[in-house]
Amino acid sequence: MTLESQSSDAMGWPSHGGQGTALLQRFGLPTDHGYEDVSANLNPNGPPPWVAGVLQERIAGLSRYPAPDYAPAREAIAAQNGVQPEQVLLTNGGAEAIFLAAALHAGGQALILTPSFGEYARACSAHRLEITSYPLQAPYFTCEPATLLEQAACVDVVFVCRPNNPTGTLISLDTIKTLLAHTQPAGTHVVVDEAFIDLSLDEEALTPLLAQYPHLILLRSMTKFYTLPGIRLGYVMASATMINRLAVYQPPWSVNHLAAELVPSLLADNAFAEKTRQWLTSEQPRMNRELLALGLEVVPSHTCFFLVRPGGVQQRNGISSALLFERLLCRGMLTRHTYSFTGLEGAWLRLALRDKDANNRLLKVLNDCLC
Ligand SMILES: Cc1ncc(COP(=O)(O)O)c(C=O)c1O
Repeated sequence: MTLESQSSDAMGWPSHGGQGTALLQRFGLPTDHGYEDVSANLNPNGPPPWVAGVLQERIAGLSRYPAPDYAPAREAIAAQNGVQPEQVLLTNGGAEAIFLAAALHAGGQALILTPSFGEYARACSAHRLEITSYPLQAPYFTCEPATLLEQAACVDVVFVCRPNNPTGTLISLDTIKTLLAHTQPAGTHVVVDEAFIDLSLDEEALTPLLAQYPHLILLRSMTKFYTLPGIRLGYVMASATMINRLAVYQPPWSVNHLAAELVPSLLADNAFAEKTRQWLTSEQPRMNRELLALGLEVVPSHTCFFLVRPGGVQQRNGISSALLFERLLCRGMLTRHTYSFTGLEGAWLRLALRDKDANNRLLKVLNDCLC
């Protein structure tokens, strides 16, 4: 068990988002207490409406094993990202990609930027990596390159989440390039989790850097953008050599037939991508402004969620994040607590961006809870 899950378990907080039943119980609320889920960072525009029909059409294929190389899916991903199919490994969600990256470095040393997604630490612990943390700096979780480079030189692998969950911050392209140049001679691998890059306002995916830096490993999830957490789709992009090394650790047929069949059609759905972009471009800055106007402290976010806490410039009666979480839940809004994130220890709440009406409902309830 990692330090993160230990601490969250010890406090009785579930270690992931959602999990409303456990939280209702924790706060003594009835099991039928209604709530909206503001804790899950999923694109509210999805899944694309045609997905159910395609799954239905392809259901007969469940009686056969999927082709183990998932060629059509990998070719579609490669074409979209401007890499070769040999540079793509299809995975059972972004989570499997994280565990494969950890498996590749089993028994070694890992540097993890914190606060960040807890599965890096869990995967590293599962594969006996010794973990060092690089704490992102106050007040808004920025990265100070000199210290990062110093620490990165001493490990086998660095895990970076970009944009970062739960802060929504984005390490600059320059810092990433410096990190890559600095780690190349020592052979330190740099794993960048881009699970939210297609839900980022300043989308600057690192794919073009793969040609120059063979020690770069990019992890992607198709869960967030396409609102398909149940289908389990993700992938890794890296050099062909690195992909072969990672594939050794992947169980055969790790991605099911229905998931693999969806990939080319999902990537071809330009109308869905455009609708999502329009929503993000209008709702993200608007919510940022509105949350600030409520007097909350808001970490500058580059993506579809916000890390907030009471106590901004127009602080109102100084309530804690824990109390705000409880008030919101009582009034039917389930937000993401941050007890399970090393370096946050519950001091902040994470709010997912949803559609305009849902965002407005949250603002109204927040306003009531802050009064
Ligand atoms: C940063 C990050 N990476 C990866 C994942 C896992 O994604 P998936 O559901 O595709 O396994 C998550 C899920 O919350 C995440 O936040």
